[in-house]
Amino acid sequence: MTKSAPDNQPVSINGRMGEPWVHLEDGHALANWGKDEEIAYNQMNRQTEKAIFFRRTFDFLTDSRVKGDYFEFGSHRCRTFRMALTEARKHNVQDMHFWAFDSFEGLPELKHASSLEIWKKGALKTAVDDFMRMVNEHGIYTDRVHTVKGYYSDSLTAELHKSFSDQKKKASLITVDCDLYESAIPVFKFIDEFLQEGSVIYMDDLFAGFKGTPLKGIARAFLEYQQKTKWRFIRHLDVGWWGRSYLAYEAKEPVTGIL
Ligand SMILES: C[S@@+](CC[C@H](N)C(=O)[O-])C[C@H]1O[C@@H](n2cnc3c(N)ncnc32)[C@H](O)[C@@H]1O
Repeated sequence: MTKSAPDNQPVSINGRMGEPWVHLEDGHALANWGKDEEIAYNQMNRQTEKAIFFRRTFDFLTDSRVKGDYFEFGSHRCRTFRMALTEARKHNVQDMHFWAFDSFEGLPELKHASSLEIWKKGALKTAVDDFMRMVNEHGIYTDRVHTVKGYYSDSLTAELHKSFSDQKKKASLITVDCDLYESAIPVFKFIDEFLQEGSVIYMDDLFAGFKGTPLKGIARAFLEYQQKTKWRFIRHLDVGWWGRSYLAYEAKEPVTGIL
């Protein structure tokens, strides 16, 4: 397979005709480039962007003294969950608990067709034992990892909410990586009480799955949530072309002006 540098790494520059030219693979280098290479290339670039996001965000959280748990809605193959664990460890975060909320059965029935053929009921399934095996192999803060199994409409119960509330839980970082509007609706309802000033909400797939329209998917759920909550959100980090993080803050009126 032809190897390329991830697109968020510094590009290498060659001198040519007295000018700096970016090194690019040419027709010879890409002669055998096919679909497998394209998929691996996209995955490499996307996972690299996400790893950089987690590094920056844990730096933000520790620098800003925002403390609380990690909630991940959509844990699948543990890729982003491992990033959270590693960055928490590298930032010497001592008291964080790490919550993986997932059906562990894959996607539910889709209410709105996605432009991605692979998003179907049961797709993206990782069984809870396989997920925990990956967590244990990773070997960071394993005693503080918790799984909550089930579709969110069933698993995010009033009892679970009360239990978190009684423990005065707060979230410092919330990853919403559950792809679908109908999945994100109960998620936003559940997290509301556990936000604090500086909580980060990272929405993966804000622009994926529905051609970027804000009328569908996670984007629609987030817009609707903003109509109901006391929390306001300021845009923080862009993560590739697909995702973005926001910081929660409280204010009676929306702040005007461009940031
Ligand atoms: C794109 S994958 C998550 C990828 C993961 N963050 C990673 O890095 O490997 C989406 C996950 O969301 C879960 N999911 C989607 N909708 C759900 C729902 N309504 N209830 C529970 N889990 C859901 C799926 O089971 C799947 O594991």
